Amino acid sequence: MIVLFLQIITCSLFTTTASSPHGFTIDLIQRRSNSSSSRLSKNQLQGASPYADTLFDYNIYLMKLQVGTPPFEIEAEIDTGSDLIWTQCMPCTNCYSQYAPIFDPSNSSTFKEKRCNGNSCHYKIIYADTTYSKGTLATETVTIHSTSGEPFVMPETTIGCGHNSSWFKPTFSGMVGLSWGPSSLITQMGGEYPGLMSYCFASQGTSKINFGTNAIVAGDGVVSTTMFLTTAKPGLYYLNLDAVSVGDTHVETMGTTFHALEGNIIIDSGTTLTYFPVSYCNLVREAVDHYVTAVRTADPTGNDMLCYYTDTIDIFPVITMHFSGGADLVLDKYNMYIETITRGTFCLAIICNNPPQDAIFGNRAQNNFLVGYDSSSLLVSFSPTNCSALWN
Ligand SMILES: *[C@@H]1O[C@H](CO)[C@@H](O)[C@H](O)[C@H]1NC(C)=O
Ligand SMILES: *[C@@H]1O[C@H](CO)[C@@H](O)[C@H](O)[C@H]1NC(C)=O
Ligand SMILES: *[C@@H]1O[C@H](CO)[C@@H](O)[C@H](O)[C@H]1NC(C)=O
Ligand SMILES: *[C@@H]1O[C@H](CO)[C@@H](O)[C@H](O)[C@H]1NC(C)=O
Repeated sequence: MIVLFLQIITCSLFTTTASSPHGFTIDLIQRRSNSSSSRLSKNQLQGASPYADTLFDYNIYLMKLQVGTPPFEIEAEIDTGSDLIWTQCMPCTNCYSQYAPIFDPSNSSTFKEKRCNGNSCHYKIIYADTTYSKGTLATETVTIHSTSGEPFVMPETTIGCGHNSSWFKPTFSGMVGLSWGPSSLITQMGGEYPGLMSYCFASQGTSKINFGTNAIVAGDGVVSTTMFLTTAKPGLYYLNLDAVSVGDTHVETMGTTFHALEGNIIIDSGTTLTYFPVSYCNLVREAVDHYVTAVRTADPTGNDMLCYYTDTIDIFPVITMHFSGGADLVLDKYNMYIETITRGTFCLAIICNNPPQDAIFGNRAQNNFLVGYDSSSLLVSFSPTNCSALWN
């Protein structure tokens, strides 16, 4: 999920201020500690890789992790578009209802509130869909699995303890930020795990998110494209989209304002649909409309998508995304067309937005690819995979 506003206040001397993707100001006050290096010795698992189980919840993906001592399981959204791990915490001043019980820090012997000049340190994060979380920062033990069979323990991990958060419906416990920013889970894993992560999303069943060497995506059929990490929008993984093919029609970004050489679209596990700037988006829509003979209808979901009356997805053209460096992703029709709650209506799963809102490559489009991030070689790799069969 893309963040509109983020404020993390700790006792820091270093202040970073940057414009957020939506033109708001981020006051990101960071304290980089050495705690990650001290935990390395404990987690020298001799080549073992950390991982967590994941599950699908309607249009987002959750991972299971444990917080506290004794370990307390939470289910939190996998979000490459943000930089904070937070979970709802007791006592709640304003918590949304969640499926799993709410974490109670008073039950944990390792929970430690961060202090800022004698006071609690606060955070506030507001996401692009206007949901938010507010609370206090703490250090706490976070535990996931590891391929060695031993748990992967991250002592003194900075987390947000949410006391006032909003969501649209009863749902998960919190968020796991997986951006390359300083507070994300992957960054806090420490130097032994240099930004290697992979996931495989499907619309059914369970899967895994992998870190470390097990997260390397390589082999036959793998395509890779460069990730661009800009300090103007810190933490986000940008890719460069050169063109989209709709059937045989090639819609180039070249010659449009969307064209770029160093990243024009964010890959985000926490956003469902795909977003293109309106001028380019309309070219893609025209190409789709050229192929489809069914009758058009207004988007019943209110998102202004391109929709048709049809009982079958078969009438639509195949869409291929061409990322820089020859990474051509031939997408399944499921990735690009969605049946709405109004039966007999299918829509193109691409929303047109207006810059400076960002272009986003969402999780629906990433379905049934094993997606690997490697922040040291600066590559994102895709391997076409039946994700619901991968770990069964
Ligand atoms: C951080 O680690 C470096 C290198 O190990 C060490 O020299 C420095 O004193 C540490 N700083 C703190 C605040 O622990
Ligand atoms: C929770 O935060 C929202 C948004 O900042 C605020 O309007 C509301 O008053 C807060 N609720 C409580 C109970 O503190
Ligand atoms: C907290 O601990 C008590 C006593 O062990 C237990 O009964 C309760 O279920 C725990 N609650 C949570 C939310 O962990
Ligand atoms: C993917 O795997 C699932 C579970 O094994 C299976 O039911 C499904 O038919 C497979 N899909 C394809 C397209 O092979």
